[in-house]
Amino acid sequence: MIDVSKVLKGFSTAEARWARYGPYYAMFPVDFAFEVIETYTKPGEYVLDPFAGRSSSVYAGGVLGRPSLGIEINPVGWLYGTVKLQPADKEDVIDRLMDIYNGRDHFADEAHAMPEFFQLCFCHEVLKFLLAAREGLNWRENETDATLMSIILVYLHGKLGEGLSNQLRQTKSMAPNYSVNWWKSKNMVIPPEINPLSFLLSKIKWRYDKGKPDVHNSNVVFGDSAEELQHIVRRASDNDIKFSLLFTSPPYCSVTDYHADQWLRLWALGGAEGPYTMREKHKGRFVSKDDYYSLLDNVFGLCSTVMAEQSTIYVRTDKRKFTFDSTLEILTRHYPDHMVTVLDKPLAKDTKTQTQLFGDKSLKPGEVDIILSR
Ligand SMILES: C[S@@+](CC[C@H](N)C(=O)[O-])C[C@H]1O[C@@H](n2cnc3c(N)ncnc32)[C@H](O)[C@@H]1O
Repeated sequence: MIDVSKVLKGFSTAEARWARYGPYYAMFPVDFAFEVIETYTKPGEYVLDPFAGRSSSVYAGGVLGRPSLGIEINPVGWLYGTVKLQPADKEDVIDRLMDIYNGRDHFADEAHAMPEFFQLCFCHEVLKFLLAAREGLNWRENETDATLMSIILVYLHGKLGEGLSNQLRQTKSMAPNYSVNWWKSKNMVIPPEINPLSFLLSKIKWRYDKGKPDVHNSNVVFGDSAEELQHIVRRASDNDIKFSLLFTSPPYCSVTDYHADQWLRLWALGGAEGPYTMREKHKGRFVSKDDYYSLLDNVFGLCSTVMAEQSTIYVRTDKRKFTFDSTLEILTRHYPDHMVTVLDKPLAKDTKTQTQLFGDKSLKPGEVDIILSR
């Protein structure tokens, strides 16, 4: 039996070391994810998250013995999730790190030719290494390459001294011009000299120091839920599987552009050299109310066909009117026989139920939890 308190506090177990893996934007607090899973499911019951982000819900489910399935459209979130659920063996990751490091000098000219942002952000050794990793790692298909690439992404940028970059925010990448002007204004135009091999070796050593997490039968699919759920619905029906908990946090209408916010990590994965908003479906800021509404309607509608009769639907979302009203209307329409609870503000200390208590602890201002149960 897993000791959850050790996952939530400190780093004394493998499950704790991988639980918070992957700086991302708008993440569930890890203790909240564990509490929801423990409160609303029994071991062996299935959990579904169609907007998985860095997969804290899926990880908590898997660690607690609930087979869990996530879907995530952003490669950065997906990579963090798929790796934390099943990291490759440490020795293989280190061998691959050596391969990439040893090939870095082939990228010397390319590194010199990179735009100013990159020259001020990374020292030459790091930039050559990143270009070698960007070209050489098959992160979509190979487990070892995915693990190494995700470790690179975790440390790609952050506070000076904590990552591979000059001073930057860790959870989201700032615009190149803004960063360049900022470094110049602070007289920080020389990026830190870092040896990427020794830096990453020490990070890998720390991460694997307690081993690999024991995650039960859980997975995150890379793709658009509106499409992937159609296959999932078919497979669930063929295998007679019903989910007991739908636990998710959808994007908020017109608030976050997950792709632009992660542009530097997406560059490392082979994407563009700047934060260009993607014109592809479901990869922008969700500014069209019609598209936003139909995404939620479609996804929650498909999910409703695989949920057990006695299931719980737990959705954390934005309090702002359009997102909240649409989500509530869509959920109550797809789950007409469930009872609805809305937790929208910190609650008094003497409130009894666990549901209400963790509403108190983990909601950020402007967020609301919608819970449907039977
Ligand atoms: C609020 S975040 C979820 C954060 C997550 N709870 C966590 O702890 O990291 C919403 C996520 O939905 C993803 N997303 C948006 N549209 C999607 C779609 N059509 N299919 C799958 N994922 C999608 C976004 O990329 C983003 O990562």
